[in-house]
Amino acid sequence: MNIIAFINQKGGVGKSTITMNMASYLTNKGKKVLTIDLDPQGNTSQAYGIDTSGKATLREVLLGEIPINKAIYGTRYGYMIPSDIALGHSERQIAGALGCETLLKKAINPFFKAIKGTDMDLDYVLIDCPPAFNVFTYNALNIATDVVLPCRADEWSYQAVQQFLVIKQQMIDSFDKDFNIAGVIINQFQSNITTQKTYYERFKDFCKEENINFISQTIRQSTDINTAIANSQSVFDYKPKSLSAQDMEKALVNILENIKGDK
Ligand SMILES: Nc1ncnc2c1ncn2[C@@H]1O[C@H](COP(=O)(O)OP(=O)(O)OP(=O)(O)O)[C@@H](O)[C@H]1O
Ligand SMILES: [Mg+2]
Repeated sequence: MNIIAFINQKGGVGKSTITMNMASYLTNKGKKVLTIDLDPQGNTSQAYGIDTSGKATLREVLLGEIPINKAIYGTRYGYMIPSDIALGHSERQIAGALGCETLLKKAINPFFKAIKGTDMDLDYVLIDCPPAFNVFTYNALNIATDVVLPCRADEWSYQAVQQFLVIKQQMIDSFDKDFNIAGVIINQFQSNITTQKTYYERFKDFCKEENINFISQTIRQSTDINTAIANSQSVFDYKPKSLSAQDMEKALVNILENIKGDK
């Protein structure tokens, strides 16, 4: 199975947008996809059209109150385990639990075993992470086979990628858990801005030095992507012929070529 976490401690770089578009792209190709919303902001859950009021969410799963299959819903972009602000309210309780960084792993592994060989057997699990290195992000990293780092072509994203490499080493040291970095991808790119072009080159050189996959295809800054999300749609459904849809598809194909999974 391929378990891809979309991570960057920097906010607003496109983690949720790229997660949703990846789910749309993969489900269009007939793949079985489960998206896990690990962000108490619940952006992805809303974008997938899930109203969480009165429903079981990831929060109850992490608290050990329900089995994970009770929090899985069918959406237009495959299965989803949603979250909302209640997850944020329970962060302290979750972070105080014994083995708090592996709660998701413990909950999901029996589920993966149970669906093996059935109609529900998954090809891809996509995890949308919050803009922080907190207990939720560690839970994602403890099951991820691959990581995608969405970035903007600026200093803050550049520093965040460097900091992520420290976290990667900590995961190896503390949990004996490694994963593949499938790609650093530049989103909201404005090719007419000189500093952005400079940062594109800086990211490219850094990734080469560190032996990390750099996705040379950028995703341009475009109101099509923004409006699509506002309409709870991927850019492929909203404007399939747009330049943004073309960027997105090329970038996602590049990322998928680098995915290692657990094979
Ligand atoms: N290529 C793009 N062009 C224009 N707008 C974009 C693009 N990518 C993302 N956006 C918009 O930028 C905002 C932030 O994107 P998104 O929510 O995906 O980032 P995020 O990294 O998930 O944020 P957070 O860290 O808060 O979870 C959203 O309003 C989204 O619609
Ligand atoms: Mg987000």
